Amino acid sequence: MSRLLHRSAAGAPPVAIGGEGVELIDAEGRRYIDASGGAAVSCLGHGHPDVISALHAQLDRLAYAHTGFFTSEAAEALAEQLVATAPEGLSRVYLVSGGSEAVEAALKMARQYFVEIGQPDRRHVITRRQSYHGNTLGALAAGGNEWRRAQFAPLLIETHHVDPCFAYRFQEPDESDDAYAARAAQSLEDKILELGPDAVMAFVAETVVGATAGAVPPVADYLKRVRAICDRYGVLLILDEVMCGMGRTGTLHACEQDGVAPDLMTIAKGLGGGYQPIGAVLLSQRIFDAFARGSGFFQHGHTYMAHPMAAAAGLAVQRIIARDRLLNNVVSMGGRLRRRLEERFGNAPHVGDVRGRGLFQAIELVRDRASRAPFEPSRKLHAHLKREAMARGLMVYPMGGTIDGVNGDHVLLAPPFIVSEAEIDAIVERLGDAVDAALVRAA
Ligand SMILES: Cc1ncc(COP(=O)(O)O)c(C=O)c1O
Repeated sequence: MSRLLHRSAAGAPPVAIGGEGVELIDAEGRRYIDASGGAAVSCLGHGHPDVISALHAQLDRLAYAHTGFFTSEAAEALAEQLVATAPEGLSRVYLVSGGSEAVEAALKMARQYFVEIGQPDRRHVITRRQSYHGNTLGALAAGGNEWRRAQFAPLLIETHHVDPCFAYRFQEPDESDDAYAARAAQSLEDKILELGPDAVMAFVAETVVGATAGAVPPVADYLKRVRAICDRYGVLLILDEVMCGMGRTGTLHACEQDGVAPDLMTIAKGLGGGYQPIGAVLLSQRIFDAFARGSGFFQHGHTYMAHPMAAAAGLAVQRIIARDRLLNNVVSMGGRLRRRLEERFGNAPHVGDVRGRGLFQAIELVRDRASRAPFEPSRKLHAHLKREAMARGLMVYPMGGTIDGVNGDHVLLAPPFIVSEAEIDAIVERLGDAVDAALVRAA
C-alpha cells in the first residue's frame, strides 16, 4: 500500500524506474513513448547525458546557498542566458521553483510596480476564460478553468475574466480571422473600461493556451491588439509561457511568432526539462527600475528560489537546445506531427479539430463533426483515452472541459524536441488506436 496521496485516491499509478530518450520505463519493464513530455516538460527527453553530467558537476561544487546571503554562478549564468535570448525589453530574471510560483511572483511584481510609481489604485487583474495559470491561490484565481476554481472560489482573490481567443469554438462561421481577433481583443478593452482604466494593473494570458483548451494559438493579430490595448490604458501585459514557451512552439518564446513582447513573462516546464523543478519571471527594465528607485527590493521570496541545482539544470538544458539547434527539429517534427495527425484524423467522425504550433499540438474530440457537439461529460472520454493510450505504451495529455470547463474533450501532445520521424509516426499510430478504443469504451 502506498502512503502517498496520489493524484487519484483510487490507487497508485505505475512506478517509473528509468527513462531513455523519448521513453519512460516502469517497474514491470514496460516502455512508454512520452508524447506529452509529461505535461509539456521533458523537452530533452529522459536521461540526457549532458544534463546529468552538468548536474553532477554542480552537486560536487555547491548544492545550495540561501539567496538572502549569496548568489551563485549557476543562477547568474542562467539569468545571462535568459536575458540574451529574451523578448525585447525583458532584462531581468527572477528564478523560482515552478510555474505557479512564477505566476504568483509576476502578479505581485505588477502590484508592487504600481505602488512604487505612485498608482496604488491599480489592483485589478484581468485574465481569460479557458486558461490555466497554476494551482496556488493567486494563480488559481487568475486561471479561467471553472472546474479547477469552483470549490476554492471562496478563497480566491478577485479577478476578472474576458473572452478567450479560441477560433474552433468561438469564431463565427462567416467571421474573418481579423474580425474575430478584433472581437476577442475588444472584450479586454470593454472590461478595462468597465473596471476603470486607472484601477487595472495587469492582463494575464497564455500565448498559446495549453492544458485547459488544448494547444489553442491566437488568431491573426489578436496579441498585437492586446498589446496596444494594454499600452493605451497603462496596463501591464503578463504572458504566461509556462507551458508553451522555451521552444515548444518552434521559437524560443511563443510570442515571437506574434510579434509581441510582454512586460512580464512566466516560464517553467521546458526551462529545466524536468531535470530539476524550476520556473522564472522575466521582467522589463522599467519594472526593475521602479523597484530599484523605490523601496529597493521586491517584497517576495522563497527558500528555494534561484536554487543552484535548478539553475544548473536550466542552464544545461537551454545550452543543449541552442548547441544542438533543436528548435529546427521542433519545427520539422512539429510539421510532421501535424501532417500525420491530419492524415489519421482528417476524416475521423469524432475528431473535430487538429491545432497547435510546433511540437505543441492537440486534437479535439466531438460527438458530431458538423455541429461540433461534444460528448456527454459523464462519459469521461478523456479519461478512457488516457488509459487506452497508456495500455499501448503511449503518454498523452487528455483533458475534459475544453469548451467551458465542463463540456468538450481534447488530447494534448508535446513530445520531446529530440523526437525522430519514426517516433512521430509511432505516436500517431498508437494515438489513433487509443482514440478508437476509447470511443468504444465511452459509448
Ligand atoms: C500556462 C501554465 N501556467 C502555469 C502553470 C503552473 O505550473 P506548475 O504546475 O509548475 O506550478 C501551468 C502548469 O500546467 C501552465 O500550463
